[in-house]
Amino acid sequence: MAEILGLGCTHRPLMLRRDEDWTFMMRTALADPDMPEAYKDPANWPAPLRAELGDDWGTAAAGQAREVYRRHFAEARQALDDFKPDVIIMFGDDQYENFKEDIVPPFAVLAYEDRDIQPWKHRRTSDNPWGEPADKSFRLRGHQEAGKYLATGLIESGIDVAYAYKPLHHPFGHAFENTILLLDDKRAGFDYPLIPFSVNCYGRRVNAARGLRLPLAMRNDIRNLDPPSPNPARCMQVGAATARVMAKSPWRTAIVASSSWSHSFLTEKNYQLWPDVPADRRLYQALEKGDYSTWHDYTTDQIEDSGQHEVLNWFCLLGAMEELGRKPDRSTFIETWAFVSPVVFAYYLP
Ligand SMILES: [Fe+2]
Repeated sequence: MAEILGLGCTHRPLMLRRDEDWTFMMRTALADPDMPEAYKDPANWPAPLRAELGDDWGTAAAGQAREVYRRHFAEARQALDDFKPDVIIMFGDDQYENFKEDIVPPFAVLAYEDRDIQPWKHRRTSDNPWGEPADKSFRLRGHQEAGKYLATGLIESGIDVAYAYKPLHHPFGHAFENTILLLDDKRAGFDYPLIPFSVNCYGRRVNAARGLRLPLAMRNDIRNLDPPSPNPARCMQVGAATARVMAKSPWRTAIVASSSWSHSFLTEKNYQLWPDVPADRRLYQALEKGDYSTWHDYTTDQIEDSGQHEVLNWFCLLGAMEELGRKPDRSTFIETWAFVSPVVFAYYLP
């Protein structure tokens, strides 16, 4: 039996932006012509949201939060370094990057070879917290042999997963690229081979919203846009099968989920202004206790109602950990109302 480490983290795009830009999604929603007057009035916003915003649109609070996240990423990196995986399988959302009009599989194992990426080249601005030049290049190690082994094992066990040997459009999806950039905060290098495992988390809006927000005018039409994401219970089955396949493999494997939880710009009932923190808290309490039945019973309607689309990555991780009989050794819930989404870190040690 190969040893398996379970790790939940985030790819926190805000960490790649300036502190003063951490509330840009909220300000974009406020500028929507269909925002109701009542929702524009800060007096009607939750008190913790107003507290984080302060009088500078959250800039000061973002600076403090950045340091909290950096500490958690350092801890996650340490857990990986202590474990020394032969391969990392990372569940992450494809936000209209390689899953778009020409093909949208529910899941895809990206069995890439090593790839050189230039993360700052494809962004609106090459400004970055590390002060790196726009053409800065990183080598990400792949593991095609293990990727083919995983896809084969899943298909043979009845999980008809898609696979790819090279990207179709985007050189390396944000969920995976950001996570590595943040886990390598000190720029010591990141030499662990990675198998990105893409999940169609954005479902009914993946093409329609191009992986981001929809105009408020479309908020009542979402069910008619694109076909849905895979449902949460199926994600748990895929995670469980991944754990079974990798446990029989010759490789020490880290199974990682990388995403934040409820997203403000996906939470239409809050007019995209703040995330569904209470719904996240309920799921998190179940995670902490190892109460997997709460996770099994969750529905796509609940995911969509609470803007928890990206938590589907975590359903894959929890399915894997349930299969291995694990509960988290430690975990943290980092609440935020102003900065798009709460964040969870969780460790399931071998
Ligand atoms: Fe994402």
